[in-house]
Amino acid sequence: MLEGPRTDRAPRDPAFALTGSHIVVCVAGGIAAYKAAELVRMLDKAGATVHVAMTARAQKFVTPMTFQALTRRPVFTDLFNLTEEATIGHIQLADRADLVIVAPATANSIARLANGMADDAVSAMVLATRAPVLIAPSMNVNMWNHPLTRENLAKLVSVAKYQVVGPGDGFLACRWTGPGRLAEPADIVEAAATLLSTQDLAGKKLVVSAGPTYEAIDPVRFVGNRSSGKMGIALAAAAKRRGADVTLILGPSAVPPPIGVTTNNVETAAQLQWALENASKGADAIIMTAAVADYRPASEAKEKLKRGALGQKTAIELVANPDVLAELGRARKGTTPLLVGFAAETEDLIENARKKLESKQVDLIVANDVSEPNAGFAVDTNHVQLVDHDEVTDVPPASKAEVAHRILDKIVMMFGEERAPRGKAKPKAVAAAKPAKPQKLLAAKSTGKAKKRR
Ligand code: CTP
Repeated sequence: MLEGPRTDRAPRDPAFALTGSHIVVCVAGGIAAYKAAELVRMLDKAGATVHVAMTARAQKFVTPMTFQALTRRPVFTDLFNLTEEATIGHIQLADRADLVIVAPATANSIARLANGMADDAVSAMVLATRAPVLIAPSMNVNMWNHPLTRENLAKLVSVAKYQVVGPGDGFLACRWTGPGRLAEPADIVEAAATLLSTQDLAGKKLVVSAGPTYEAIDPVRFVGNRSSGKMGIALAAAAKRRGADVTLILGPSAVPPPIGVTTNNVETAAQLQWALENASKGADAIIMTAAVADYRPASEAKEKLKRGALGQKTAIELVANPDVLAELGRARKGTTPLLVGFAAETEDLIENARKKLESKQVDLIVANDVSEPNAGFAVDTNHVQLVDHDEVTDVPPASKAEVAHRILDKIVMMFGEERAPRGKAKPKAVAAAKPAKPQKLLAAKSTGKAKKRR
């Protein structure tokens, strides 16, 4: 009898889900086999130890040499090759794997796997492993739509260890347009990381706001700020990886929103407030990363303002925008949703953060010295202090993705704590942030489902 996913491996710290993991990429014979090379390279770059198994048909599209060069390991191609079995041992590899990815999974390979076949390197690997198996289908649209393919896939996913990512929709190599494209390698990597991560936010609804707001002066010009949206987008992606249902309210940003996250694009503070109100119903936490413009022009000119008419000196009358976070804090009854604000400061970081914690009646302020090099706006790294009603915790400088996970560690902890409706206690001394404890990760249940790209 096939058992569920292996339970002898603990879910990993989501910030480093792939680092040090053993992943077997199984390549079946379809035109998208060439994209498996990029997938392998990305997994390797993320710190995984990657092994590759190929069917005979896959080798007609890409040679094992390509994968051997990328992984620096022999490629598993033949069940009955004495040398390969002596050096790799397919059962040993299947046992050691933390995750098996079938990419591309052709209609033929899905049919074979669904029927429990094990007569080549790929099918034997998939049947023998107790690790989760991520299937990335890729085929002609009519093959994908065929009831037998659907039946085969449904049969596979009825067994707990199988998950599916993709296929994408678009122009296919067979010149048809529709579903059947292999999911993008980056999306497969994210689905893999999700499968290996602790799912400590499963069942939680999080709303994250990110980016600047633009307040129009006229159809061409606006009042805005330097926020890139990177920190909020990293938080949304990190929460999604940990199993949360995430809605992102995103101001004008050049950074693409994360896969699988419902995103509402807004431009002004008023739009942000409206979108946030709508998204917040039933939310467990609201994280206000957005750099909301504090003021907007009192009126918006319908036509472009002309220099000649304005003269050498001019002034724009500004009116205050609502403090969205403070209004959420004021309106909240009890302790749900958990309210998290950011404080972008250039001086007196902790003191100003504490003032915002109290005045906005929130549970946590992520304090950010935006004048520090490699922290704050636009860069890919950050250095923050987590200020709550009891303590101040330093999160050492790291990538925004890692900082996002350390902020979420704190939020997960706060979900588990009893909180006073509006804390008035004075914060205590600064403590260094500790990485997520392995015991906590062990206790978490992995329920992650790979999702198709939005
Ligand atoms: N915020 C908000 N609405 C505003 C301004 C800020 O909801 N009109 C939120 C931000 O999203 C952030 C927090 O309040 O979570 C603090 O924002 P920040 O710009 O640091 O401070 P301000 O409240 O604008 O105060 P100041 O400009 O005086 O520092």
